[in-house]
Amino acid sequence: MPSSHRPHQPPGLLLAPMEGLLDFVLRDVLTRVGGWDRCVSEFIRITDQLLPERVFLRIMPELAQGSLTAAGVPVRAQLLGSDPACMADNAARLAAMGSRGVDLNFGCPAKVVNRHGGGAVLLQDPAQIHRIVSAVRAAVPAGVVVSAKMRLGFAHDRLAEACAQAIEAGGASELVVHARTKAQGYRPPAYWHRVADVRQAVRIPVVANGEVWSVADARRCLAESGASSLMIGRGAVVDPGLGWAIRRELGGADLAVPRWSELLPQMQGFWTLVCQRIEPRARAGRLKQWLNFLRRRFPEAQRAYEELRTVNDPAAIQAWLDRPGQPDLRAPARNDSHMPREEALA
Ligand SMILES: Cc1cc2nc3c(=O)[nH]c(=O)nc-3n(C[C@H](O)[C@H](O)[C@H](O)COP(=O)(O)O)c2cc1C
Repeated sequence: MPSSHRPHQPPGLLLAPMEGLLDFVLRDVLTRVGGWDRCVSEFIRITDQLLPERVFLRIMPELAQGSLTAAGVPVRAQLLGSDPACMADNAARLAAMGSRGVDLNFGCPAKVVNRHGGGAVLLQDPAQIHRIVSAVRAAVPAGVVVSAKMRLGFAHDRLAEACAQAIEAGGASELVVHARTKAQGYRPPAYWHRVADVRQAVRIPVVANGEVWSVADARRCLAESGASSLMIGRGAVVDPGLGWAIRRELGGADLAVPRWSELLPQMQGFWTLVCQRIEPRARAGRLKQWLNFLRRRFPEAQRAYEELRTVNDPAAIQAWLDRPGQPDLRAPARNDSHMPREEALA
């Protein structure tokens, strides 16, 4: 499959939306580590009403700071729903609040969401996808990007190209394809070659997503899909330095990939933010959730996970972080020189 990815031109790298995992706290931390060009918020579910601004701000607090993370990386809000008029009203509100574009979710596999006609179930009905994208496109100013994220299908992938064409015809200017059907869930592999088929069917830029955990995966995904940008979810949570590693290996950039010792201050930053913004009974769980991912990559995280597994009291966690002999977790954060390249994500 011919690749449009030029050597020494690093791919555009997006952080994936992940409800309950990659929220504003982890977006803040991962974009401080750096190497990522843009984020998409976890889905904001639209049913039959115009949501008040405070709901958007709760899910995407970056709206109050120019739709940027603290490290200056743009965040685009994602809407999930099936009613074109209601989606359009909420998209218009988001645009007025300054979201860096509006992304539409056509991939969520959750039963409750699909039962109400939203997410991946829409992939059976390209005409309804077209109505939703068109209504949203018409409702937001011309300068606000409308994009979409889809799976390859619901029960099968035979409508993938038709869905992508409906998204394009509706006026979206970018499409992320999670290279699996709803029925395939999150089971490996991801079918990156089908992203290449979708690319052939449309003219808008197509970003490849699914099962990129390493530089080698990124290289293969770019080659098989022909895409020049990747969206990465779980791989970035497991290895926050993956963006830098991809830039170095595939972009030829002479830069250092952060080691565990450099990630540790980010863990303190994560904990500080969790304590400021997350309700007390959920705090310990959030730290352990991240450690549970990190331990797949870092032996040090495995040790931390074992020590903290049964600890639920936030004060005890703080004491663990502060204890003598613990590496200094309060060292200043790494200062990246990488500037996000939002325009280079195609
Ligand atoms: C816990 C979890 C929550 C997710 N939430 C969303 C979401 O809110 N919106 C969305 O478009 N995709 C969501 N996804 C899908 C991811 O964005 C991504 O497409 C998927 O994880 C495959 O990419 P990866 O292999 O790089 O993780 C979620 C995935 C997970 C595991």
